[in-house]
Amino acid sequence: PLDIDVKQPPMGWNSWNRFGCDVSEQMIREMADAMVESGMQDAGYEYIVIDDCWQIGRDDQGNIVCDPERFPSGMKALGDYIHAKGLKFGIYSCAGAKTCANRPGSRGYQFQDAKKYAEWGVDFLKYDWCANKGQNAQAAYLTMRDALDATGRPMVLSICEWGYSEPWKWGKGIGQLWRVTNDIQDCWDCEFEWEGVGVINIIDQMADLRAYSQEGAYNDPDMLEVGNGGMNHEQYKSHFAMWCMLNAPLFAGNDLRSMDKKTQEILLNKELIALTKDDNNQQAFRAIHSQQYDLWVKSMTDHQYAFAFMNRTAEAVDIHYDWQKYIIADKAFGWHQVKIKPTAKIRDLWLHKTVGSCNEPMDYQLKPFETLVVLVSDEESF
Ligand code: DGJ
Repeated sequence: PLDIDVKQPPMGWNSWNRFGCDVSEQMIREMADAMVESGMQDAGYEYIVIDDCWQIGRDDQGNIVCDPERFPSGMKALGDYIHAKGLKFGIYSCAGAKTCANRPGSRGYQFQDAKKYAEWGVDFLKYDWCANKGQNAQAAYLTMRDALDATGRPMVLSICEWGYSEPWKWGKGIGQLWRVTNDIQDCWDCEFEWEGVGVINIIDQMADLRAYSQEGAYNDPDMLEVGNGGMNHEQYKSHFAMWCMLNAPLFAGNDLRSMDKKTQEILLNKELIALTKDDNNQQAFRAIHSQQYDLWVKSMTDHQYAFAFMNRTAEAVDIHYDWQKYIIADKAFGWHQVKIKPTAKIRDLWLHKTVGSCNEPMDYQLKPFETLVVLVSDEESF
């Protein structure tokens, strides 16, 4: 296999959550411009991914063809534009004969499509699972992995199989990230009969999957909804903070050209993003789970731990937390014990300042839907 450089969860932007099928080269270019100008590139966002609906058919030779009205300059030119900004180029296809939006998929054309992507300078392929009849998921994704590798160009493979065949059990070595649920919806607590889950439902589903996430192979709780308007500010903050705690890929899904200040503060919070840039590469485990709130703990390098106290509800919740009590991590990691020394300092990653030390219990009132995220560190004393 080729050496695909994803030592940390990939970051970028994807067109689907905000724009659906309304994609064009003009809009994608503007998004690349905005990624640089807004400071997102500096914060670590790297991939510009065009999701479904860029493709319109196949030519006589079976080559995949992009919509000439929406992408008149073609995909190679668009890739060049993105690369000239120092960004990376992502594209979308589907393991079935059709994509979810009924465009041509890659079934039967995997090697031919992969070759085209390489010609266009593609760095990342999101590979969907609609029209999958009669196919085995692992085999289908392995075929595309082989096709991508055969081009000689390293391309990340984003497995978008929605968790149906437990891709966390087979995804490593085939792709670098795998979706774990149906599509995220721009809401905190909602479930739909056919597709779509709210943020809290996705977080709950991630709890059992911690052991499968590791360097170069990440559980993907789907792209971000921050800034798309369906949730309130606290909910968006919690959504983003928890994605960082879960060591998740961070793909913004909003319109980067018109972000308000509040959205920027969330997506550009470098101290939270840093949680996903840690060499330990661990997904947080859930240490406390109640109706009212969760405590998640992420084990980091240099004896640091991130703690996230997440209010699940629309009511304020009072928490009392004694830093001196032991935390026992989940079974997957062999009853790893966490013991924080009293001298450890507590840094609030939203306020960007040290707020105390671990020698005394903490009393804090979580606002409705608030997630308090703190980094606890004391190099010598753990
Ligand atoms: C289903 C995927 O889960 C979504 O993220 C998006 O790619 C759509 N398909 C596109 O049709």
